[in-house]
Formats: sequence, C-alpha cells, structure tokens
Amino acid sequence: MDTRVLELKNFKETGRILGEDEKMIKEAADMIRAGGLVAFPTETVYGLGGNALNAISALKIYKAKGRPSDNPLIVHICDQSFLKYVVKEMPEKAQFLIDKFWPGPMTLIFKKADSIPLKTTGGLDTVAVRCPAHAVANKLIFDADLPIAAPSANISGKPSATSAKHCIEDLMGRVDVILDGGESEIGLESSIIDVTGEIPVVLRPGAVTREMIEDTLGCPVELDPALKGPAASGILPKAPGMKYRHYAPSASMVLVCPKDENSLKNIAPRIYSLIRKNLYSYSRIAALASAECFFMMGISEEDLKTGWKKIGGVDIALKNMGSRNKPEIIAHDVFEDLRDCDRLGIDFIIAEGYREDRLFIAVMNRLKKAANWQIIYV
Ligand code: TXA
Ligand code: MG
Repeated sequence: MDTRVLELKNFKETGRILGEDEKMIKEAADMIRAGGLVAFPTETVYGLGGNALNAISALKIYKAKGRPSDNPLIVHICDQSFLKYVVKEMPEKAQFLIDKFWPGPMTLIFKKADSIPLKTTGGLDTVAVRCPAHAVANKLIFDADLPIAAPSANISGKPSATSAKHCIEDLMGRVDVILDGGESEIGLESSIIDVTGEIPVVLRPGAVTREMIEDTLGCPVELDPALKGPAASGILPKAPGMKYRHYAPSASMVLVCPKDENSLKNIAPRIYSLIRKNLYSYSRIAALASAECFFMMGISEEDLKTGWKKIGGVDIALKNMGSRNKPEIIAHDVFEDLRDCDRLGIDFIIAEGYREDRLFIAVMNRLKKAANWQIIYV
C-alpha cells in the first residue's frame, strides 16, 4: 500500500492548526471513516488509528502492527459526549478522574458498550478509553466524528513511536496516512487505570502517577502485581499487552539498578566493569545512562558530545539520557535512545536503572521490559 506522509508544517512551527494543516487532518479523518489506517501524534506517543466501531478496521490495525489479536486497542475520544457510545456504565470514581485528568495521559478501563466490537477489545467485555491532550489528535477524532481505536504506532514489540520519523521507520507501506505533527511531548504511553472494580488498579504506570490518582480520589489505589516481574513468574497482567516483550531494541540489554539510595554510587563502576568484561563478546556495545553516571565513569562532556569513547581499544557508544534530576527529559527521549541503538547496529546495551519514584516508575517499567527483565541490583 502507498503511505502518504502529511507534514503539518504550521502546527509544528506554531503549535496551531492552520491553513493546509486543516485540510490534511480532514483528509486523514476521511481515510479513517473510509476504513483506512492513520498514524497520528498524541502527547504520549503516536497512535496507529482506525475506526473503533468497525471490526474490519481493528483487524487491519493488528495486521499492520504485527500484533497478536488478543491484545486490545485503546479507544480515543475527543470529548466526553462520545462516552455514551463507548462505555456501558460510568463508575463515580472514574468521573472524578476524568474531570481531573482529561484531556491527558490517562486511559481508563470500563465495561464496554455494545457498539464497540469485540475485535477492538481483543475479545474482552471491557474497553480502554482515552481522551488525548493533543490538538491534532483531537481534531482528527472530531473530524472523523468517530471514536478512534489506536495502539502505539510501532511494530509490535519495538519501542513506541514518539515522532513521525519512528512511524515512517515502522509503518511505511502498512498504513494509508502518517500525520507528522512533530515529537510527542511526554514520550511514554498513558497510565492505564482499571476502574471496573471497587479499588482502582494501575495496570500500566505513566505520567499520571498512582499518587496523583490517590490524591484525587482520597482512597488507596493498587498496582497490578504483574508490574513487579515477568509473566513467567506465574502472574498474568490484567492489561494483556503487558505480558509481551516490549519496547525491545534488537540488542540484548542489561539494566544495572540501585538496591537503595546508598547504592547509587555503585552503578557507574558496575556499568564500567560490565563494558570491560564484554568488550570482545559483542560487536558493538552501548552504554545508556544519565550524565551524572557517565561523569562518575570518568567520561567527559566532550566524549558525551561525540557519543563515542574508546575503552580498552574498543569504540563504545554513549547514549546520554540527560540529568537524573530531569525525569521528564529521560522519559521524552527513552524510546528514541533505544531506537538509535538499533540504527547504530548495537548488539549489547548496558543501561542505568533509576530509583523508582515519580515519573521514573513509568520509565523503569519500559526499561525493564526493553531489557527483558535482565536486571542486576548493585
Ligand atoms: O498513550 C497511549 O496509551 C498510546 C496512545 C496512542 O494513546 N496508546 C497505547 O496503546 O499505548 P497500546 O495498544 O500500545 O497499549 C495499550 C495497552 C495494552 O497493554 C493493552 O493490553 C491494554 O492497553 N488494554 C487495552 N484494552 C484493555 C482492556 N480492556 N483491559 C485491560 N487492558 C487493556
Ligand atoms: Mg504499545
């Protein structure tokens, strides 16, 4: 299939949808109405969208993404008036969360309305719903006048797409339109909260944290126990997609994590010794770490700028994730950093693990999966 890449120049320059942009979004919306597929920007990551009310569109999405069809899609709406077509009932707690966090990076799980086909929900009688805080996504949904089913716009298993460049890498020839609206602001997928039971449960951590939800509801919120470890431990995650290997670069990857606050200082020496130990076992190694960690390894600002350092006579790629004090920047860049390792032909990544608080909970969830749970605690 021919894929048309439509660049929203005015939006990228000014943050406003003007002139030609409007026509392009309208064209993409018509494509969705006609049963086609459109990759589009949201504030979290890019989505691979189709008509959420049409089972054939859902099948096309699974095929384009190479995704197992038991892994349900998130239904995107542009305002609450769509909810009556999508969800069967609105729990009181869900309404509180919607009033506080929509539009935004929060997906809620509801009992599904009959109009949502089982193909969209991977056979479940529940549906994941999100209202993005992104002008292009919202206009696309508004113009299509339909809820849009969209998983992240990457080939299944690969790091999520946070720019049109990533969509082009993965989806050229597989979708009808790619709408280029620049980089996704957050860079990590939405938080997923199951509100179908008495106690809300976080199924996937994101920019709306468990603490923010507890503060809003004034009640405890649980974490899906499967977030602690791989599905192999016997616990199946409640979000079916969380059981698959994910966010994976082509390289093998190991994550060096601090046991506690006091062991932060042990990370840099361990990464360094892992590099030395593996120098001749791989053809190209990358270290993926914060600037602070690189400095502790004796790597200079100049080295970080070039992105390479000779260690034991071998060129090691340096992927500087930024400061440990700027989790938003680390979150924004993490998928691009993993994808860049693929572009550089890296076959072994040694990555820094972060203390799991604030946004780092979500970052670490993605890094652990990218590393296929190969974790060393120091
Ligand atoms: O930020 C996001 O959420 C992005 C953008 C495009 O909105 N979308 C996204 O979709 O990350 P996807 O398909 O890559 O991840 C959706 C996750 C999967 O793990 C899936 O299993 C889970 O949501 N999910 C969807 N429907 C569900 C349901 N009814 N019950 C439990 N989990 C569900
Ligand atoms: Mg995904």
